[in-house]
Amino acid sequence: MRLTVVLKKVIKLLMIVALFYAAARFIVVFRDSRLTGERAPYIQMLSQSSVYVRWLTKDHHVGILRFGEDPDHMPTVYVEPSSVTNHSVELTGLKPATRYYYQVGEIGHYHDFDAGKHWFYTAPQDSPATRIWVIGDSGQAGEIQQQVRDAAFEWMQKNPLLDSRKAEVIDKPMVDVWLALGDLAYRSGSNKQFQAGLFEPYEDLLSNTSLWPVYGNHDDRRWTYFRIFDLPEDAEAGGLASNTENYYAFNRSNIHFIVLDSQASNRAADADMADWLKQDLAENTKPWVVVAFHHPPYTKGSHDSDNASDSRGRMQDMRKNILPILERAGVDLVLSGHSHMYERSYLLDCAYGSSEAFSISNIVSTGVDNKNINYIKPMQAKSHQGTIYMVAGSSAKVDGGRLDHPAHYLGLMEAGSVVIDVVANRLSVRFINNKGQVRDKFSISKQAGFKSGYKGCSSDIGSLQ
Ligand SMILES: [Fe+2]
Repeated sequence: MRLTVVLKKVIKLLMIVALFYAAARFIVVFRDSRLTGERAPYIQMLSQSSVYVRWLTKDHHVGILRFGEDPDHMPTVYVEPSSVTNHSVELTGLKPATRYYYQVGEIGHYHDFDAGKHWFYTAPQDSPATRIWVIGDSGQAGEIQQQVRDAAFEWMQKNPLLDSRKAEVIDKPMVDVWLALGDLAYRSGSNKQFQAGLFEPYEDLLSNTSLWPVYGNHDDRRWTYFRIFDLPEDAEAGGLASNTENYYAFNRSNIHFIVLDSQASNRAADADMADWLKQDLAENTKPWVVVAFHHPPYTKGSHDSDNASDSRGRMQDMRKNILPILERAGVDLVLSGHSHMYERSYLLDCAYGSSEAFSISNIVSTGVDNKNINYIKPMQAKSHQGTIYMVAGSSAKVDGGRLDHPAHYLGLMEAGSVVIDVVANRLSVRFINNKGQVRDKFSISKQAGFKSGYKGCSSDIGSLQ
C-alpha cells in the first residue's frame, strides 16, 4: 500500500518534470524560430513570369519595391498592404529570360541599391544551356564554408557556360539553378543560425539567384526553414503541384527537378510523397531529371546507409521505397548530403539492398573513356537505363568515414561543392574542392539509337504505370 503511494508520487513528479521540459522546449523552439533582425533582400521561387523578393527589417514598416529592366529607371512600384518586419513582395507578369533590377525600402526611403547585386534573371521558355550549383550540409559558418564558396565562384567565373545561340552571353547569370542539399543552418536551424550559416555568407548570390532547398535533419529542429523559404507547392515553376512545401518539383530549361523530403514526410512506397512522385514523373516531358533529398541511399561516410538505426532508417527507406520509383522513370542524377564528404556512384540500377547485397549486376556502366568519364544512355527508352547517385555533404565541413561503399566509383574526404552543366543532350558534373581543384569529373550523354547491352534487373522492369 505504502509502495503504491510512493510510486504514484514518483509518477506524478515525473509527469510534472516532463511537462516543464516540454513547455521549456516549446518556448525555446518558438523563440528561435521567429524571423527577427535585419536581413538583406533575397529572391525566391523564380519562374518564367514571377519571383518573390523577401527581406527583414528590425522595426515595422510598409515595404516598397521598385523594379525594371534598366537599373537607372525602375518604373514599376509595389507597396505592401500593411506595416510588417518580414517583407515579401511577389512580382508577376514578367518576361522570360530577362534581367530585371530591383530596389527595396520602406515608404519615404529606399535602401542602398547595387546594380551588381540587386537583379534577377527570369527562367527561359526554351532550353538554353543551364548551370547548376549544388552545395550540401552548407550551414556551418566558417573558413571551410567560405573557401568552398569562393573556389566554386572563381572556377565558374573562369569557366563561364556559354550558350552559343545567344549573342549577349554577358547577360547570363553565373548560376542558373542553385540547390542546397539540406542542413542549411547548424546546429538547430534557428533564425540566428540561418543568418550566420546562410544569409551572411551567401548574401550576394541570394540577392539575385533563387535558392531551391532540401529539408535536412538539422533544419527540422526549429520552424524557421518553412518561414524563410517560399517553395512551389502549387507547381508555380512547373511540374505537378505537391500541395506541400516539404517536397516539390520545378522545371528549368530542359531539366525537371524534384526535391523530396527524406526527413519529416512519410517515406513509405504508398504514402502521399511517393504517390505524388509517381504522378509527377509520369507527367514530366523534360529529357533530363535531377532529384535531390537529404539522406543518401548509398554512403559509407560520416553516416552508414547499411545501419538501420543510423538516422532512424531514413537512408534505407529512401533506397527501398523511393529509388525503384525513380529508376522506373529513368531519373538521371540523384543528389544527397548528410554524410560530410563526397561520394559518387557508377551508373546504377536496382540496388535496393545493403552494400553486401550489391553486385556487379547493379552496375549498368562503369563509364567509357577513362580520361573523361562518360556514361551513355539511350535518348528514348526511359525506364531502368541507369542513375548516378552522389553524396555532396561537404560544403562547410568534412567528417571521417570508410568511403568504401561498392556502389561508388569515388569517395573523397574533401570539402567542396558541385557544378553541373546541362547543354542539350549532355550533362557534365564537376566536384570542385575548397582549393579550387576539380576532383571528380564525369558526364552523362543521351544518344539516339544507343543500345547499352544492359538487360535490366528482373524484379522491377516495367512501365511507370
Ligand atoms: Fe544531415
